[in-house]
Amino acid sequence: MSALLNNLPRYRRMTEADIDAIMAIENVIYPHPWTSGNFNDSLRAGYHCWIMETGGETMGYSVMMIAAGEAHVLNLSIAAQWQRQGHGREQLQFLLKLARDFSASRILLEVRPSNVAGRGLYADAGFSEIATRRGYYPARDGREDAIVLELELQ
Ligand SMILES: CC(C)(COP(=O)(O)OP(=O)(O)OC[C@H]1O[C@@H](n2cnc3c(N)ncnc32)[C@H](O)[C@@H]1OP(=O)(O)O)[C@@H](O)C(=O)NCCC(=O)NCCS
Repeated sequence: MSALLNNLPRYRRMTEADIDAIMAIENVIYPHPWTSGNFNDSLRAGYHCWIMETGGETMGYSVMMIAAGEAHVLNLSIAAQWQRQGHGREQLQFLLKLARDFSASRILLEVRPSNVAGRGLYADAGFSEIATRRGYYPARDGREDAIVLELELQ
C-alpha cells in the first residue's frame, strides 16, 4: 500500500535545483527545446512553475503566466517514458484548476501545427483555435507558424 502511494504523481513548485533534470527531458522531447535560461527567467519572473514527480523522479513540468484575468501556458511537458499514460491530461487539468484559483477567465497557449500529440491533448480538453501567429517558432527549415488555442474557464 505505501509503495503504491509513493508512486502516485505529486506536484510541487519548481526551483533552480530542478533545471538540470528538466533540461535532460526537454532536450529529448522537443526538436527546439527551451534553454536553462528560459526556465531561470520564468522562475525569476514569478511565473507558476511546477514539477510533477513520483518517488523523486521528474515525470513532467509546466510553466504558466497569469495576469489580468488571463492564463498563458508557456510550457507543458511529460518525460518520454511517462507519455501516453494520461499524465499530460492530468497535468493540464492541474493548470486549469490553478488558473481558476487565480481568477483567470480564460487560458491561452500556442502549439505547433506539426505537434500532433499537443494538438490532440488540447482538443481533447476543449480548447479552440482562435488565431495563427505566422513564423512564430524556429524550425528545421526556417520558421513554423503557431496555432493560438483558447479555453474559456467557468
Ligand atoms: C503533449 C504531451 C504533454 C502529452 O502528454 P501525454 O502524457 O503523452 O498525453 P496523455 O497520455 O495524457 O494523452 C491525452 C490525450 O492527448 C492526445 N495525445 C497524446 N499523445 C498523443 C500522440 N502521440 N498522438 C496523438 N494524440 C496524442 C490524445 O488525445 C490523448 O488522449 P487518448 O489517450 O484518450 O487518445 C506530451 O506528448 C509531451 O510532453 N510532448 C512533448 C512536449 C509538447 O509537445 N508539449 C506541448 C507543447 S504545446
